[in-house]
Amino acid sequence: MQRLSSQLQQSSTPPELASLIDVIAVACKDIAFRLQQGAMSGILGSAGEENVQGETQKKLDVISNDLLKDYLLSSGTVRALASEEEESIVAGNDKGGYLVAFDPLDGSSNIDINSMVGTIFSIFDAPATDVVSEQDFLQPGRNQAAAGYVLYGPSVMLVLSTGKGVQMYTLDQRIGEFVLTVEKVAIARDTKEFAINMSNQRFWAEPMQSYIADLLAGSDGPRQKNFNMRWVAAMVADVHRILCRGGLFTYPWDNREPDKAGKLRLMYEANPMGMLVEQAGGSAYTDTGPILDVQPEQIHQRVPVILGAANEVAACLGYHTE
Ligand code: AHG
Ligand code: MN
Ligand code: MN
Repeated sequence: MQRLSSQLQQSSTPPELASLIDVIAVACKDIAFRLQQGAMSGILGSAGEENVQGETQKKLDVISNDLLKDYLLSSGTVRALASEEEESIVAGNDKGGYLVAFDPLDGSSNIDINSMVGTIFSIFDAPATDVVSEQDFLQPGRNQAAAGYVLYGPSVMLVLSTGKGVQMYTLDQRIGEFVLTVEKVAIARDTKEFAINMSNQRFWAEPMQSYIADLLAGSDGPRQKNFNMRWVAAMVADVHRILCRGGLFTYPWDNREPDKAGKLRLMYEANPMGMLVEQAGGSAYTDTGPILDVQPEQIHQRVPVILGAANEVAACLGYHTE
């Protein structure tokens, strides 16, 4: 049984990065504890405020954001952080070696129904300059030093890549430590399972309409096989399923709010998940190419997302180039 810290040491992770990942793990254990206590820890319900995205914050969005911020800023390893719940970047320690972007609580609509939620994080090296600005965060996801998420499910799991494949750790509640449970995650190239919020069907662009219609046509349609569908409404849980048993996940552009490029955010949702999926042998695309090659323009920028089984992602993209 290998603990997170010894696994990071053994895989030659730079000590400061290992220490930062450990701090994130500790903060997430704190969030996990509060989730398990549910109503008893006062985490349920709305906080009555809106975040910069105009979304109503849940109490747990605010609590998770504050916890992560406190742990990260006191760790000494973080030069600056960006969060879904913070309008601007927050400066940390001038000697810290890393920039961290995170979604403190992903899948907020699941909190009050005791269903799966997660925390997503993306780590870049800090710039060599003394002063740090938002501009320093605006680099392609390809530059991420590490990325991962914690899934708060029946088990609490940490899924991580430092650029050497994807490892899964499970929280051993008896000892309070994450232990390595999957050494090398691999996504099969083909699949018969997809994930999309079907209720938005009439708002999608024509290529996505045709692609999904062909999946739904099953063995009688052009794809000549039956597809199953799943949608947890927490990207962490949907991507976790894909890392475990394959599939395709998409949150496409739609014309409900035509000026928004999509729903999911590049810096703390699409980029970290893109790194995990690519490191596990899958594909992660947006409308312009691989997610990891997008040059970000803003920290809260949104992008359409299509990721998962390589051949199925290619099939979906095919409808868009026809
Ligand atoms: P968040 O809770 O951090 O705002 O993210 C929710 C995201 C993502 O996790 C999920 O895939 C998607 O929103 C669900 O959207 P719908 O409610 O439109 O299905
Ligand atoms: Mn999210
Ligand atoms: Mn969130």
